[in-house]
Amino acid sequence: MENKIQANGEAKLTIGDATYDLPIYKGEIGPDVLDIRKLYAQSDMFTFDPGFTSTASCESQITYIDGDKGVLLHRGYPIDQLAEESNFVELCYLLLKGELPTAGEYAEFKSRINQHTMVHDQLSNFFRGFRRDAHPMAIMVGVVGALSAFYHDSLDINDPKQREIASIRLIAKIPTIAAMAYKYSIGQPFVSPRNDLDYSANFLRMCFAVPAEDYVVNPVMARAMDRIFMLHADHEQNASTSTVRLAGSSGANPFACIAAGIACLWGPAHGGANEAALNMLNEIGSVDNIPEFVEGVKSKKYRLMGFGHRVYKNYDPRAKVMQKTCHEVLNEVGSGEDKILQVAMELEKVALNDPYFVERKLYPNIDFYSGITLKAMGFPTEMFTVLFALARTVGWIAQWDEMTTDPSQKIGRPRQIYTGHGQRDYVSLSERKTGKALTNA
Ligand code: ACO
Repeated sequence: MENKIQANGEAKLTIGDATYDLPIYKGEIGPDVLDIRKLYAQSDMFTFDPGFTSTASCESQITYIDGDKGVLLHRGYPIDQLAEESNFVELCYLLLKGELPTAGEYAEFKSRINQHTMVHDQLSNFFRGFRRDAHPMAIMVGVVGALSAFYHDSLDINDPKQREIASIRLIAKIPTIAAMAYKYSIGQPFVSPRNDLDYSANFLRMCFAVPAEDYVVNPVMARAMDRIFMLHADHEQNASTSTVRLAGSSGANPFACIAAGIACLWGPAHGGANEAALNMLNEIGSVDNIPEFVEGVKSKKYRLMGFGHRVYKNYDPRAKVMQKTCHEVLNEVGSGEDKILQVAMELEKVALNDPYFVERKLYPNIDFYSGITLKAMGFPTEMFTVLFALARTVGWIAQWDEMTTDPSQKIGRPRQIYTGHGQRDYVSLSERKTGKALTNA
């Protein structure tokens, strides 16, 4: 990656009698940043920012979010335009290479992905080592990490060709692995990929086909799956992406880095919210129960799951596309009158007009509708985060590749403010009088 940040003046920081000049940089769009890289060397002070709420950890040219305006751009293109007019494989190309492909480039890229959809036969043995009731995300973390034991010829991160082949392998194999994790958990045989099908149609077939009968891919479901993958493909420096970058900053191989990203995504505060939103809608059960539920939210008894976002303080642009996709899927499966969807739509209307939510800028996020949609498509809730991981793999790879080629890249190493004991002398076991161990050490 070629660095493009530009100087945009200087700020002065005064601490006691000393004044430090801090360069200000500007990006293409978005807020300016203060460069504090030399601050510790000059002032002997760190900055303190748990959760990185005010810290840009890298320069990036992949994804831009304006949370106040509800904007999400990939390489400059708005997500709603991409979701409406493009497809997941083309989006993968865009995220990885920076530009939309020509027809020839697209055909070649698609064919390269198709050639790598199968996994090494030996990899099936890994699945058989897991309990049948293992969470599919636990299987994903293990199996994706294990890919580094199979593809020795794509582990040298300093070789651009090896980085590229590792990227193609990950994008091509992750649907096969995700479908195998699902099939294993329900005790059905694995279904091999079919390279004559599109990316998302092939994935649905690997999940839902059985040897006893023919499986015909429903085009509405395939399109919905493709949109869901597109909406989750990248979201700049979120927790799992930052995890991938941090793991990669030590020079770890790409398969190990993506496994680290999957582990981080598994957490309920990140990938698990759509499951929580679906559970909440089921608990509300009927439109008549909404007023009482909303009162409970306002008195802080519950949270309205699928509402609010750390970055978006406006309508999540992905939620609008997800709402449309949700309607299409429910109409197709014959549950256009679905009670849960009716609850969702009424709840959205009530919340968007209630001062409690308006004043706090709480809008529906993508998870509000994705749980209902995935359930209607036939996925059990444990698979929701797996689908998110599948889709996000391309974002993680694009960000990892960008970091690897960034000349200003350094190993990630945050600092801390230490509030534990000062130095003290060791006391031998026989001389220790009281046990005062920290319970949360
Ligand atoms: N329901 C009710 N009230 C809420 C909600 C909500 N979902 N979210 C925030 N608030 C209220 C808070 O109680 C707080 O009110 P107060 O000022 O009276 O104390 C105010 O809004 C600000 O809330 P914070 O927690 O400071 O907002 P933050 O930006 O830290 O939270 C978060 C973002 C965690 C996503 C939150 O909105 C939430 O818990 N939402 C529900 C879970 C969810 O849908 N997560 C998915 C996120 S999208 C994704 O991961 C792909």
